[in-house]
Amino acid sequence: MVTSINKVGVLGAGLMGHGIVQLAAQAGCEVVMVDLSAEMLYRGFEKINKLMYKAVKQGKILPEKCEEVLKRIKISTDMNDLKDCDAVIEAIPEIMELKKEVFAKLDKIVKPGAILATNTSQLSITEIASATGRSDLVIGMHFFYPAQVMKLIEIPVGEHTSEKCINAIVDLSMRMGKETCVCKDTPGFIVNRLLAGLMVEASRIYDEKLADVQEIDKALKYALGHPMGPFELFDFSGIDTMVRVADGLRDAFGDRFCVGVGVRNKVRAGDFGQKTGRGFYDYNKK
Ligand SMILES: NC(=O)c1ccc[n+]([C@@H]2O[C@H](COP(=O)([O-])OP(=O)(O)OC[C@H]3O[C@@H](n4cnc5c(N)ncnc54)[C@H](O)[C@@H]3O)[C@@H](O)[C@H]2O)c1
Repeated sequence: MVTSINKVGVLGAGLMGHGIVQLAAQAGCEVVMVDLSAEMLYRGFEKINKLMYKAVKQGKILPEKCEEVLKRIKISTDMNDLKDCDAVIEAIPEIMELKKEVFAKLDKIVKPGAILATNTSQLSITEIASATGRSDLVIGMHFFYPAQVMKLIEIPVGEHTSEKCINAIVDLSMRMGKETCVCKDTPGFIVNRLLAGLMVEASRIYDEKLADVQEIDKALKYALGHPMGPFELFDFSGIDTMVRVADGLRDAFGDRFCVGVGVRNKVRAGDFGQKTGRGFYDYNKK
């Protein structure tokens, strides 16, 4: 196995990927951000730029430091550019067949001994690892959105993941300034099993027309002190992604995780939340 992680690849430049790229570059690593879509790469890099320069303006980092961090980031649409990374963190859509296909490719491309991590929200690390010939070096590295801000990285561990691999990923997470929670490979891990229960119940309250989304959001924020209500969170994290997560939990644990039809219809309509401009709230008006 690689002895230290100095070069990181991130596959997927969407909501999660670009934040992970920024964290890895701030941690001092060379970073290669790869996406199928050149547009997503430019958008992701633009977001990182904006956040870094905002931090300079706020006096949180020195301009030279900002330049150094940005210089460490390369972008590419070619997965072969990940070949000499010490670790690759995958952040592509939450679809098992897609992840397995991509991990099989990564296994062929990325140098032997390198770690392959997945940012999956709830899929089995062990099953993803089975698509590779290095299941001891496959692990979960579950960031939360926005990755730059949220304090935790959950680290679900596959059946064959080695102790050395766990230690290297805990160490990288700490270099990124995060807290870690190492747990077994179980659907939804710890955080999303707790969160999905809440989101699914909110979707039932919505279907039962007991209150408007604004009212339900206020209930959670002002009674339980959550920073966002469930429908604000659906829109913020992507309704498509949240439904996929809940469906994975429903397949594992049964109907207690079955999302209601109202939320599902948003996905069918292509209204995924902030990223498409409309979800439970309309972002085109603002
Ligand atoms: N959105 C969240 O709040 C959140 C939080 C934690 C974890 N996750 C997990 O992170 C992963 C990504 O979620 P997201 O919200 O960033 O999704 P997203 O839809 O915003 O981004 C996915 C990106 O992957 C790219 N992509 C698709 N197929 C690809 C391929 N074969 N090779 C390279 N790039 C490819 C897409 O072009 C897109 O830019 C999922 O597994 C999700 O469950 C999401």
